[in-house]
Amino acid sequence: MSLDERNELSNTVMVITGAGRGIGKEIAKLASSVGAQVALLDINVENLTKTVDEINALNGRAKGYTIDLSSEAEINSVIDSIEAEYGRIDCLVNNAMSVGAEDFLKSSLEDWEFQIKVTLTAAFLNIKRVLPGMIARGAGNIINIGSVNAKTMVGSDAYSVAKAGLHALTRAVAVRYGSSGIRCNSVMPGSIATDVWLQRAERNPKVFQDLKPWYPRGRIGTPTDIAEAVVFLASSRSDWMTGTEMIVDGGLTAGLAPMLKIIEASE
Ligand SMILES: NC(=O)c1ccc[n+]([C@@H]2O[C@H](COP(=O)([O-])OP(=O)(O)OC[C@H]3O[C@@H](n4cnc5c(N)ncnc54)[C@H](O)[C@@H]3O)[C@@H](O)[C@H]2O)c1
Repeated sequence: MSLDERNELSNTVMVITGAGRGIGKEIAKLASSVGAQVALLDINVENLTKTVDEINALNGRAKGYTIDLSSEAEINSVIDSIEAEYGRIDCLVNNAMSVGAEDFLKSSLEDWEFQIKVTLTAAFLNIKRVLPGMIARGAGNIINIGSVNAKTMVGSDAYSVAKAGLHALTRAVAVRYGSSGIRCNSVMPGSIATDVWLQRAERNPKVFQDLKPWYPRGRIGTPTDIAEAVVFLASSRSDWMTGTEMIVDGGLTAGLAPMLKIIEASE
């Protein structure tokens, strides 16, 4: 039986932030294909509408909510609307982020705070708003999209600090609310080919090719690689997993692949 045939997220109301494009969009499409009702949040109305239309054209059940995740008032009002419309939220996926200056010496305080606000604080606020309902129902599932940047220095300093915070937030929620029926996990992607890389690709059109030697699997990741992990974490197949960092990075953080070749003088 294929995953799709199992329809394993039917009866799941899933909220996904940053779902207008990239990884969030792919999570929405895959979750919908296995039965989830998806409430999609993004600041970009055009992309959001496109994603919702694509999913509904495939007989999915998607609805879009325009939001600026840097606003607590907008978060509270959108989460409240979703709960009122669907009756509950079973699964929250904190996927949106904001990345700015790479080097912290080049970050203004405003830029630093904005990256942390959208990448980390918005997740805190979303979780804070969905938790009371989840606790009252004795069940809830929260998935935070982290990053290898939380673990190892590969640039984008403020963003990396925010991602490290997000991984810590995952553990806090998992441990504090586990006995209330809440699960909370992080997914930790390596480099994934999305539009977020466009600026770097303009500076170096070979950026993905140049990164390949660092990835033991021999390729950069795709949004589907991450969506598969999220759907697994959202399903009951991962029922005993909580507080984890699910590494989906093609082997990047398992070692230092180019260094191995130098040490063994194999190249
Ligand atoms: N692409 C990668 O290489 C990579 C690697 C590791 C982790 N990740 C993580 O995966 C997740 C998705 O990344 P992506 O590459 O798809 O990024 P992306 O930039 O393509 O998508 C992010 C989405 O978030 C939305 N968004 C940004 N600011 C917002 C705001 N203030 N309010 C509402 N929506 C807002 C954007 O409009 C966009 O649709 C992020 O958490 C990112 O940190 C990505």
